[in-house]
Order: sequence, then C-alpha cells, then structure tokens
Amino acid sequence: MAPHYCHPNNMLFTTVLFLVITTSLSSAALIPTPNHGRSFQQCFYSHHSNNHTQVVIPRNSPLYSPLLNSSIRNNRFLNSSYHSLSKPEFIVNPTRESHIQATIICVKRSGFQVRTRSGGHDYEGLSYSSSTHQKFVLVDLSNFRSIEVDIENETAWVETGATLGELYYRIAEKSRVHGFPAGSCPTVGVGGHFSGGGFGTIFRKYGLAADRVMDARIVDANGEIMDRNSMGEDLFWAIRGGGGASFGVILAWKVELVPVPEIVTIFSVSRIVEQGGVQVFQKWQNVSHNLPKKLFLHAVIKPNNGTIQFVFVGLFLGRVKELLPLMEERFPELGLAAESSQEVSWIQSVMYFAGFAVNNISSKALLNRTSTFDGFFKAKSDYTSEPISGLGLEGLFKRVLEQESSMLILTPYGGRMGEIPDSETPFPHRRGYIYKIQYIVTWDTEEETSLHMRWIRELYEYMAPYVSKAPRAAYYNYRDLDLGRNGKNDDSYERARIWGLKYFNGNFDRLVRVKTAVDPSNFFWNEQSIPVLASH
Ligand SMILES: *[C@@H]1O[C@H](CO)[C@@H](O)[C@H](O)[C@H]1NC(C)=O
Ligand SMILES: *[C@@H]1O[C@H](CO)[C@@H](O)[C@H](O)[C@H]1NC(C)=O
Ligand SMILES: *[C@@H]1O[C@H](CO)[C@@H](O)[C@H](O)[C@H]1NC(C)=O
Ligand SMILES: *[C@@H]1O[C@H](CO)[C@@H](O)[C@H](O)[C@H]1NC(C)=O
Ligand SMILES: *[C@@H]1O[C@H](CO)[C@@H](O)[C@H](O)[C@H]1NC(C)=O
Ligand SMILES: *[C@@H]1O[C@H](CO)[C@@H](O)[C@H](O)[C@H]1NC(C)=O
Ligand SMILES: *[C@@H]1O[C@H](CO)[C@@H](O)[C@H](O)[C@H]1NC(C)=O
Ligand SMILES: *[C@@H]1O[C@H](CO)[C@@H](O)[C@H](O)[C@H]1NC(C)=O
Repeated sequence: MAPHYCHPNNMLFTTVLFLVITTSLSSAALIPTPNHGRSFQQCFYSHHSNNHTQVVIPRNSPLYSPLLNSSIRNNRFLNSSYHSLSKPEFIVNPTRESHIQATIICVKRSGFQVRTRSGGHDYEGLSYSSSTHQKFVLVDLSNFRSIEVDIENETAWVETGATLGELYYRIAEKSRVHGFPAGSCPTVGVGGHFSGGGFGTIFRKYGLAADRVMDARIVDANGEIMDRNSMGEDLFWAIRGGGGASFGVILAWKVELVPVPEIVTIFSVSRIVEQGGVQVFQKWQNVSHNLPKKLFLHAVIKPNNGTIQFVFVGLFLGRVKELLPLMEERFPELGLAAESSQEVSWIQSVMYFAGFAVNNISSKALLNRTSTFDGFFKAKSDYTSEPISGLGLEGLFKRVLEQESSMLILTPYGGRMGEIPDSETPFPHRRGYIYKIQYIVTWDTEEETSLHMRWIRELYEYMAPYVSKAPRAAYYNYRDLDLGRNGKNDDSYERARIWGLKYFNGNFDRLVRVKTAVDPSNFFWNEQSIPVLASH
C-alpha cells in the first residue's frame, strides 16, 4: 500500500561540476595532444605515489564500465554512442580529499573538463556525460559518504557522496525525535540535492535542505579547500540553491537537524474520476497550501485503465486523533478515515515515501544505493500561484490519458516556504506559490524516446496559460535542457539568462556576480552553469 513515487520523480540533481578550459584561454591549451591522457595520469601520480592506482581509472580498465554505470539513473544517458554524448576519459574514484585537489590541478593542466557525480540522479545526465566534444574526467564521489551525527548539538556533517537514505538512517539510528527536511528518494546524493534547494515531506514546516546548511567544505578552481569562513558569505549563499557545479567541488555539508515527534501519521487516499476525483482535486488546489505547517499533503495524478486517478498522500507531524478532526474541518471532501492512516516513527514515514513497506522491512533498506527504477524518463516542472481552472484541467487530463506511463506530482507550498524571503538563498520560489508540478513520463526502449519527449514538450506548451509567467518558474534540481533552447540569438549569456531567470528569478544576477568574482575564467562550466559576465 506504500505509494511508490520514488522512481524518477523525486530524484534530484547530483553535484555536477565540471572544470573546463574554455574560450577564455589561449587556443594552444585547447588543442588536444596525443598524450593528454598520459599527462593527466602522470600529473595525478606526481601528487600521489602509485599506491593509489585504483583511484584513476582509464577507459580500458575493467573497473571503468561498472563504475560508470553504477549510478546512471536514466537509461536515456546509458547509450552514449546513440546520443553522441561523450563518456569520461578517466573516472577518478577518490578516497581522500587530496585526490580531488590533485584532480582539479591536473585537469586544468591537461585541458580536460571535470564533471562530478554524487548520486547520479541529475535529470539531464550532466554529472557524468557531456554534449560537447571536450574530453573530461569524471570525479565519482561514491566513497565520500561519511556521516557524523551530533545529537547533542543537533547537527551533522555529511560528505557529498552520501545519499539521503544514508543520512536519514544515520540520524534515526541516534534519535527518534530528530529528522532532516530533504527529499523523499533515498538514493539521491546530498551533493547536488542540497546545492539546488532540496524539498521533501517536512519542508512546509522546516523549509528546504539548503535552508538548513550551516557550513560547507568546497574545493575551488585552484584546488584549495575552503569552508564557510574562508569562502565568504557570497559564495556560501550561492552554493545553497544555485548549484555546486558552477562554483567548485563540494566535499561536505554541515546541516542543522530538526525536531520531529516520536509518532507521526502517514495516510493515502485515492479517487478516480468516477468517484468524484476531480472535485476532490479542485478542493485540494484550494486548501493544501493553507493547511497547518505540520501537515504535508501532496497529490499525484496519473492515468489508470482509461480514467484518471488522483492519489493524495500525506504526512502529519502528530497523531491520528488530532489529524482526523483537522481534516474533517478543513478538507472533508477527502473523506479521510482512520483506516487510511497509520501512526509510525519518522524514519518509517521516510520509508513510506520512498516506496518501501513500512512495517516489515528494516530501515537498513535506506542504505541501499541501487535505485529501483531502471528505464528511460523525462521530467519538467512548473509553479502555480492560483488553482488551474476546470477548463484547464480538462485539457490536462485528456493529455495525461493519452500517455499510459505519465504522472504528475503536485507539491503544496505555503507554510514555512511562504515565510522565507526569496533572496535568502538562490532558490527563489517561495511566497505566493500554491504548488509545484512535476510532469514525468517513463518508457522502456530507446526507440520510443522521441515519441515521449514530444508528448511532454507538448504538454508543457499546453500548460503555459495556467502556470507562472514572466519568468515561467522551474526547479533547478529538475534540470531541463529544453529551457533556453528557444533563445533568439546564440550568445550564450543571453541563452543562459532564459533558463537562469526561470530557475533563480531575481537571484540570477547575484549568482552571476558571485560566479564572476570567484571563477572569472569560467573554469567550472556545464551546459547550464552560471555564466560569467563579459569583461568590459
Ligand atoms: C601511500 O603513499 C603515501 C605517500 O604518498 C604514504 O604516506 C602511504 O603510507 C602509502 N600507503 C600505503 C598503503 O602504502
Ligand atoms: C554499461 O552500459 C552500457 C550501455 O548500456 C553497456 O554497453 C555496458 O555493457 C554496461 N556495462 C556494465 C558493466 O554493466
Ligand atoms: C557540541 O558543540 C560544541 C561546540 O562546538 C563542542 O565543544 C562539543 O564537543 C559538541 N558536542 C559533541 C557531542 O560533539
Ligand atoms: C476554490 O476557491 C474559489 C475562490 O476562492 C471558489 O470560487 C471555488 O468554489 C473553490 N473551489 C472548491 C472546489 O472549493
Ligand atoms: C479496466 O476497465 C474496464 C472497463 O472500463 C474493466 O472491465 C476492467 O476490469 C478494468 N481493469 C482493471 C485492471 O481495473
Ligand atoms: C512485507 O509486507 C508486504 C505487504 O504486506 C508483503 O508483500 C511482503 O512479502 C512482506 N515482506 C516481508 C519480507 O515479509
Ligand atoms: C538494493 O536495491 C536493489 C534495487 O531495488 C535490489 O535489486 C537489491 O537486491 C537491493 N540490495 C540489497 C542488499 O537489499
Ligand atoms: C542503444 O541504442 C541502440 C540503437 O537505437 C539500440 O538498439 C539499443 O537497444 C540501445 N541500448 C539501450 C541500452 O537502450
């Protein structure tokens, strides 16, 4: 009976970092030389004697392919030859911070790019593949996952290759009354998730993961390690919502834990159209963002045997006897009954939203880094500040019905999210929004790809009148390379502004200023990294 919404849907972007020697450098540095690869390895081993041979893995190593595939979460990016995406020349699998520092220095010298992967969930595969012909080195942070939970001080240091599941498990191991407000999908890496915002089932009470970051350790473009104090408040602001990839390699976060009750309530109610589902959904649009902060109630819309099914799934930071009268008063149309609710511990609620059975499976399942989803998908996001009209919904449902493997996840805002100023972190989508929509479509074979991509692009076009405008807001952790493709001129700064305003709105200009100050040569670059202001 557990809702299984953690296949593609709650996956979030991992740290995508790449270092490029791009246009700003002399062309001599860009001309590939036959011994490029050798010189990267030689440079690396001059920093680390050859007892670290397992750290730099070349293409011809038997370790290469299993490691590369190990955290590709979307088969769209598995078949790199088909998509003319490039694969890394080397995978660096660091076990200590000095390996990452040496990698940065040597990548810079060799003229490669660098991309960094923590959990591998980024929606466009940018953390391990490239659409440019520039050769690159992948830093896979899967060994960087120590987690130190300090219950006395209610904090934790978590390395960026750790997953959300590992973090939640380590917190619950030490306390039944502490939690952390981040995403539902346990195999997502904390590196990219926190750096792009990071929301989950308790964000209406506690805000985003990024809102709870107290400190960070980051390797900069010179291979130097900085913390909050040495990086300064501008850069510390930028990496809490602006993505780590544009600014450095994030090694670890220090986060503030939050209190959770010893007993919480999970519940789920499903209605199809024929059971009045549309009317219940319309009421949901009106009330979900106004419910008390300690109640999270999201809605899932999907086709089911020729009709539309609405699934309302909730987490209440309290007990059933308090929840039922509250729902009876605020949302009686849902008809929530005691039988649809269950009192559990916070970590069991994490299991529930992750798609595990709650009662009979050990929470150790959260330590499993292998994703259950094995297929192709494409997703997009929107924000709404008013309910979608009945007419708008009709067209939406018609399109959803056409696509058996589609799903929409609607996440109510309000609560704490409406109290935090938009400029507090680079994540700007706070006050005024009633909910966020994630559109998802999944499929099984390469051949179906273009069909499904077209379907979701047409749906996105259809939705334009019903969602936020100027800019049409989008969530950075649901990165979408379609955004900005409609740029009229080809200047990359102008193109970047199109997606930049959608993801960051009024914070985009400050991100550009921070980027220009800390990385003027645009060393950390990717297809959607923060651009550098042209020098005057
Ligand atoms: C590996 O080399 C480093 C010096 O680069 C040395 O300090 C360390 O003890 C060596 N480790 C092993 C296991 O040999
Ligand atoms: C990795 O994925 C590629 C593309 O599907 C495949 O050719 C290769 O055999 C896979 N390697 C391993 C070790 O699974
Ligand atoms: C809590 O923080 C204080 C001050 O930083 C530190 O001295 C103390 O050791 C911390 N407690 C634990 C259990 O680490
Ligand atoms: C939602 O609210 C609007 C105005 O606030 C109202 O007109 C409409 O009837 C409400 N719909 C439902 C289903 O409650
Ligand atoms: C699907 O709907 C048809 C009629 O609309 C019904 O006969 C059939 O039992 C349904 N199948 C399932 C699996 O619900
Ligand atoms: C756990 O419960 C589910 C549903 O109740 C059942 O299908 C599954 O077999 C159980 N698993 C174990 C390990 O008992
Ligand atoms: C980890 O999860 C994967 C995917 O669900 C599963 O195939 C595998 O058996 C799990 N491993 C363990 C040790 O439970
Ligand atoms: C890769 O693409 C080829 C050509 O379309 C296709 O035959 C093959 O099945 C694809 N492999 C995977 C793993 O999707």
